[in-house]
Amino acid sequence: MIIKDIAKQQIPVIGNVLPFKKNNIIPIKINKTIEIVIVPNLGEVNSHQDNVGIILEEKKVLRILSKRYKNVSITEINSVEDLEKLVKRKPDLVFSGVKYFFFNNKNIWLNDYLEMFEIPYIASNKTALDNESNKNRAKKLMQKAKIKTADFFITNPGEYLDETLIPIKFPLFIKPVTGGDSRGVDKNSIVFNFESFAAKVLDIKIKQNSPSLVETYLSGKEYSVGIFEDSINGSLRAMPIEIIVKKNVDGHSILDFDVKKNDEEKVILVTDTKIFKKLSKLAKDSFKALGGKSLGRIDIKMNHRGVPHFIEANLMPGLRKGYFYRSCVLNLDMSYEDMIFSIANTGLSSH
Ligand SMILES: Nc1ncnc2c1ncn2[C@@H]1O[C@H](COP(=O)(O)OP(=O)(O)OP(=O)(O)O)[C@@H](O)[C@H]1O
Ligand SMILES: [Mg+2]
Repeated sequence: MIIKDIAKQQIPVIGNVLPFKKNNIIPIKINKTIEIVIVPNLGEVNSHQDNVGIILEEKKVLRILSKRYKNVSITEINSVEDLEKLVKRKPDLVFSGVKYFFFNNKNIWLNDYLEMFEIPYIASNKTALDNESNKNRAKKLMQKAKIKTADFFITNPGEYLDETLIPIKFPLFIKPVTGGDSRGVDKNSIVFNFESFAAKVLDIKIKQNSPSLVETYLSGKEYSVGIFEDSINGSLRAMPIEIIVKKNVDGHSILDFDVKKNDEEKVILVTDTKIFKKLSKLAKDSFKALGGKSLGRIDIKMNHRGVPHFIEANLMPGLRKGYFYRSCVLNLDMSYEDMIFSIANTGLSSH
């Protein structure tokens, strides 16, 4: 019994079956070199870094990957020379959440750089990440691919001086064009009249220094769909979850900055098969339209008629306790360890 339990712990349960020494429970490790690449955070502890998409718990990832692969290490990159040494070593996989480095006054995008040297990596390249981070561009790509997304326009204070000139109908939803973590999203994002429209657009300009993305308000349920690319045949697996947010003082449910900060939202599995299928299709189509690779998350909201609409995508989703991990746990009963193995496995077989 005890022996069995120990054996179980040592065998990663997903993906390829591990080779075993005959009559022995100790698995033989796969002969691959994986470098976990990180960049130092020069700001306060855990402070936001624009150039990091996935904040990795590198020591935990090292511990996990070392169970299965022979040569796993953590590499901190501080200079162009460090990067050059990395590609010279030509690891079988670079496991990293870094988007780009800023050396000698220019950005070097990690995944595009690795691609030049034919080194496999996890997640998407610059083109796809650019498509995703600008919501204006992401939504235009959706429209081109005939994927439903709320009608929208971009504006700055003073551009629309009269209610009759506003191109879409109230109620509207207003947020910064680029953002993240729901910065700039609050109860005043939902507007029913010209006055509050002008006030919110001005507020976003002043506080976020950003133009506004003005959309048709979607009043229905909210979802997030984790996407995993299969390591063997490249097909996409969708893992939808519903995000339940309590109504605010005005009776609306929005995932705003405070809700996220205080972890007030609840996450559940989508059990209605019809809705599950619709969400899965929309998420896979959106992922492809953005040019996503390996993994990602697509956020979706329904309108008042229950029709799902693309809100935004995240092609470098947080792996810790965020929605991506929760979508894996709820849909596939995956452990954190399994998820890390899956990501590595997909990366290793992508070339
Ligand atoms: N058109 C809309 N109608 C209704 N609610 C919306 C609309 N767009 C966004 N929201 C609400 O606002 C929240 C934040 O919007 P969005 O995800 O676009 O912003 P974000 O700041 O980029 O968040 P993230 O941290 O996920 O990147 C959504 O999760 C949703 O609850
Ligand atoms: Mg969001």
